[in-house]
Amino acid sequence: MSDTRDALIAAARDAASRAYAPYSGFHVGAALLLKNGDVVTGANVENASYGLTLCAETAAVAKIANEGWIGELAEVAIVGGRPDGDDLIGSAPVNPCGRCRQILNEAAERSKTDILIHCASGDGMSVHSYRLSELLPAAFGPKDLDLID
Ligand code: THU
Repeated sequence: MSDTRDALIAAARDAASRAYAPYSGFHVGAALLLKNGDVVTGANVENASYGLTLCAETAAVAKIANEGWIGELAEVAIVGGRPDGDDLIGSAPVNPCGRCRQILNEAAERSKTDILIHCASGDGMSVHSYRLSELLPAAFGPKDLDLID
């Protein structure tokens, strides 16, 4: 549909190639588009203590936070599937887990933007796009603690 969306999904698919997911075999990539045009990516990082796994979206948000909350967030793409050689396969769009919705909300609220989230299948062919407010209505965030005006 849009060039921006497609480029972001391509970046997320590339990020998924760097997933560390030996336990689930499910590789997830996330790409964050900042308003200045920069794209920051992340992939899931699993752990032998399964519950400590870091999701792709969380890894990507941690990157921008650790760079001093660089830029403002505009759009996000998420892809997930199974690796097949150098490719990523899977035909069902991947939605962000509940924890990641909350993590994304922090960056979105700081950016004062109801960010667009493109949820894509591993093969990148099937995409559902949502506003964060659709995926996490009535969110709790920094505004509730009056940390940001
Ligand atoms: N996963 C993500 O990276 N993001 C999500 O929003 C959903 C799930 C990862 C965690 C785990 O490594 C694998 O997908 C299977 O749940």
